[in-house]
Amino acid sequence: MRIVGLDQRAIGQRLVYNLVDAHGRVLLSAGTPLTSRYLALLQGRGYVSIPVEDALGGGAAPSDPIPEPVRTRITDLVGDSVKRAERGLVAVTPGIRAAVNDVLACLLKSSNLTYNLLSLHSLEDYFFVHSVNVCVYSLVIAGGLALDPVDRRSLGIGALLHDIGMIYYRELMERPGVLTPEDLARIARHTEEGFELLRRQQEVDLRAAHVAFQHHERLDGSGYPRGIDGDRISPWARIVAIAEVFDSITSSRTYAPTKSTAEALDLLEADAQAQKLDPYLVRYFLQRMSRHPAGTIVRMGDGAVGVVLQGDVPGQGAAQVRIVSNDGERLEPGTRQVEADGSAPSASIVESLPDYPEALAGAVEALPEAEGLATGS
Ligand SMILES: [Fe+2]
Repeated sequence: MRIVGLDQRAIGQRLVYNLVDAHGRVLLSAGTPLTSRYLALLQGRGYVSIPVEDALGGGAAPSDPIPEPVRTRITDLVGDSVKRAERGLVAVTPGIRAAVNDVLACLLKSSNLTYNLLSLHSLEDYFFVHSVNVCVYSLVIAGGLALDPVDRRSLGIGALLHDIGMIYYRELMERPGVLTPEDLARIARHTEEGFELLRRQQEVDLRAAHVAFQHHERLDGSGYPRGIDGDRISPWARIVAIAEVFDSITSSRTYAPTKSTAEALDLLEADAQAQKLDPYLVRYFLQRMSRHPAGTIVRMGDGAVGVVLQGDVPGQGAAQVRIVSNDGERLEPGTRQVEADGSAPSASIVESLPDYPEALAGAVEALPEAEGLATGS
């Protein structure tokens, strides 16, 4: 499979799996060819990309450690929690605790993350999908600190509800168009509002409430709402800050272009070097993420273009790339093993592409299907 942008080029492509909204409702079934009517429908709901079948990828697909039914259940629980908060009731329900336990159980079963979890959601689902993803990434990063199980679960609750203060600004967030500086200043208050909401709840660990308060603070003092720096920012908030930045820049939103996993990881590294994000925790996260997950279209050092069959995992395994074309002229089907350090130009991935280059669109369809993960040529 590969993920393509939702524009005219997507018409005729077949969905690789059911496209569901954040509450598990099927919008379009797997195998459905995209028509201009479906395209308009999905664009209208704020989707910007979809997963489509790609015979060249040999069935390569990103692996999400959170299975879809679990994700749907967690999303519904966050939805309940938000509704309760809006009515002034206790937001941290037993269901929210169970949801964090579900995420922890899924992560235990999965040895590594090889995909930025989301990317496929409508604009109105963004809040829920983002909350679940930030919780997952935070619990991955939390592996870098020796937390006991109770603290790990409390951190998970803080991460899952880090943006609960947004309930007061959802209309503003869901409004199409660019946010004005005044809008952004109002939205920035979601940190204080979230803190107030969570700290009033007796059973919530105060450190989890501080996650809502401090997740936009930066180590160099350039964050908000208070501009605190260094050790004044809690370790839990530092974790959630990294998860939040990563998920925000890899998410499809109408007001910012989506970045590839590799670009997002580079940005995290730059923020760590600039002493904005915690360097130790960023390094820990980088060591656990694939830069080029399965299904990504990539360009190699020698100009060849291919689709990643198997994502690279730092320190564990190289990526395998099915080469589709060399510079759009000479077709060169074959599979390459890519070492993480890319010692030869032909064996290094230099960039992720949003899709096959347009000049190749016809040519790649004529290639035989990928045969699997055999290495060679
Ligand atoms: Fe936030």
